[in-house]
Amino acid sequence: MKKRKKHYSIMLSMMLVTSGLYFAPVNLTSQVKAAAQNLADPSTKAFDQKVIARISAERIYKDIHFFSETIGPRVTGTEGEERAAEYIKERLLSYGYKVETQEFSVPDKMIGHLHTSDHNEVLVNIPAGSAATPNEGVTAKLFNAGLGKVTDFTVEATGKIALISRGEITFKEKVDNAVAAGAIGVLIYDNINQPGPLNPSIGGNVPVPVGGISKVSGEALLQDVAAQSKTVTLNVNRIENAKSQNIIATRAPNKGKNHDIVHVSAHIDSVPFAAGANDNASGTAVALELANVLKSYPIDKELRFVFVGAEEIGLVGSEYYVSQLSQEEVGRSIANFNMDMVGTAWENATAIYMNTLDGKANIVTDTALATAQRIGTPSQLVLYQRGSSDHVSFHDAGIPAVNFIRREPGTANLEPYYHTPLDKIEHISLERLKEAGDLVGASVYSLIRK
Ligand code: BES
Ligand code: ZN
Repeated sequence: MKKRKKHYSIMLSMMLVTSGLYFAPVNLTSQVKAAAQNLADPSTKAFDQKVIARISAERIYKDIHFFSETIGPRVTGTEGEERAAEYIKERLLSYGYKVETQEFSVPDKMIGHLHTSDHNEVLVNIPAGSAATPNEGVTAKLFNAGLGKVTDFTVEATGKIALISRGEITFKEKVDNAVAAGAIGVLIYDNINQPGPLNPSIGGNVPVPVGGISKVSGEALLQDVAAQSKTVTLNVNRIENAKSQNIIATRAPNKGKNHDIVHVSAHIDSVPFAAGANDNASGTAVALELANVLKSYPIDKELRFVFVGAEEIGLVGSEYYVSQLSQEEVGRSIANFNMDMVGTAWENATAIYMNTLDGKANIVTDTALATAQRIGTPSQLVLYQRGSSDHVSFHDAGIPAVNFIRREPGTANLEPYYHTPLDKIEHISLERLKEAGDLVGASVYSLIRK
């Protein structure tokens, strides 16, 4: 897990937000300045209410239910991700948007299944570099190889799957030692309790299949080793030539050409084994609701919704999206509102963080702060320096971008369910969905309305 603490920028941002003292960036175009001035207009309040009155938390919640419970995990390049993309596309077409499916290739990767001879399924993560197995998998007895040091192996390991605890030496060293001892596969179990299977990185290619499992699963399998007679079956497949897609919905104003563009984005995909209710069915479903609410009001800027694929494998979809924009389109792009993890019910996540790449305010943070003041957003807004989501790709293209994400103020902690099988609909808050929808919806409308 990466370091997520930036105390300095939190403190600075909290001072700025609570004092109401923040500065507009100096190099705004005149159009952007005009848009920002709109915010001070008291009649804007009436426009806010037009949007807010129509945003339905129940509708958002139902979509999260569909993505996270009906579909389930939406891992990059899998059927789950594609099904979610199709659902989004149909919905956007029904709202009257011009919709494009933008397909792109994703790098090859390994997936796996593990089951015991008593037919128990064990969740397993397969690292890049693992060998694949034949279709029927490899079935073998387990060998308890302790920490996987050279001295932990005996001749008994030959032809078995080595069961190794995380710790003391690298994952790669454990695998190399198992291979040298004649093991035909390796399972590495966690040494700390965390939900979801271990994700071991083994650096390069190894000649045997390798999987990572949780501490609980590893300890349960140790019992099987003691029972002697049991076997496990490990299947590892390489997913090749996989495709992912972005779904792009566009609404241009009726008159004129070459309008400024406001991009609203949210990623569709989830990590393996996670239903991804908060990460990121929440952002996806709020964006869909904003597409619904903003589908017919008069606007004088171009509105684009970008539902992004392949975020969890390294922002691949959003990088592809911005790479396909012409220079002229980039030049017209004034803002990106990215929503990722906006619906958690985790009680400590009382703040809405606005993550920017440089930790500085921009048109998006300014607009959101002004909107929050007008509509009385209950949560504290915190300006914070952080990447890790699709706003990075927009920022890198020179487009002012923000990721809206709920965190614990002060620590910037994310919910404990993040990237685990616990990221489920029961940890989603209707009130917080509404808050995010109102904030981003009224902000976007204040920039694009006629
Ligand atoms: N939903 C998270 C967003 C996020 C933002 C996480 C800020 C942590 C901090 C996102 O989907 C995610 O998990 N991002 C990855 C990085 C990405 C480039 C693969 C992460 O932070 O590990
Ligand atoms: Zn995410």
